[in-house]
Amino acid sequence: MQESIYGEYLPQLKAALDYILDGINDIRKKIKEEKTTDPIEHCLARIKSEDSMREKCRRKGLPEDTHSALEVIRDAVGVRVVCTFISDVYTIRDYLSAMPDCEIIQEKDYIRHAKPNGYRSYHLILRVKKKIYAEIQLRTISMDTWAALEHQLKYKQSIGGNTKLIEEELKRCADELASTDISMQTIRDMIFENRGDAN
Ligand code: GTP
Ligand code: MG
Repeated sequence: MQESIYGEYLPQLKAALDYILDGINDIRKKIKEEKTTDPIEHCLARIKSEDSMREKCRRKGLPEDTHSALEVIRDAVGVRVVCTFISDVYTIRDYLSAMPDCEIIQEKDYIRHAKPNGYRSYHLILRVKKKIYAEIQLRTISMDTWAALEHQLKYKQSIGGNTKLIEEELKRCADELASTDISMQTIRDMIFENRGDAN
């Protein structure tokens, strides 16, 4: 059998993933106590499979080895946190930045700066215990819905001659969902102001 592309590091990858998930769980509890609402709708976590990691190395023209998998490609460990409201994305981001043994290496705010196709999400690359990189995607339910559908459509080979129209329509859906997210946030803020709570 072929040796794992992660070499002897699979246990460390799993430990890093657990460390982040425990941290997110603590953050969730704290926010629930402070703000009385649950900031997380759901959370998905994975170690990138052997096959996907090898395919990504090939796609990026990298040698299929442990160095590429752990040091060059930085999403062997991945967590997607689907948040309730836009403000929760930023609150969780702030808590993550304060997590011990965990450094933010890179941040991409595709919420304030959406990708040209309409993709929205807040991406963080963390480094856990000065060794293992992890990619955290923070997004709202609407952003997650759009990304899931767009991801499915992207892999449909025979889009035909309508590519431009389809891309425009997908972008329009993304923008409409973003506008709804802002309205939902406003409604939430109004409810909390009325109750006299901080948001
Ligand atoms: P990678 O080569 O995948 O590492 O991309 P990158 O280094 O440019 O990172 P980026 O932060 O842009 O994207 C990382 C991940 O975000 C992807 O693997 C997807 O899970 C997600 N993502 C980014 N752009 C899109 C998009 O346009 N549509 C969808 N559905 N997902 C996206
Ligand atoms: Mg990436």
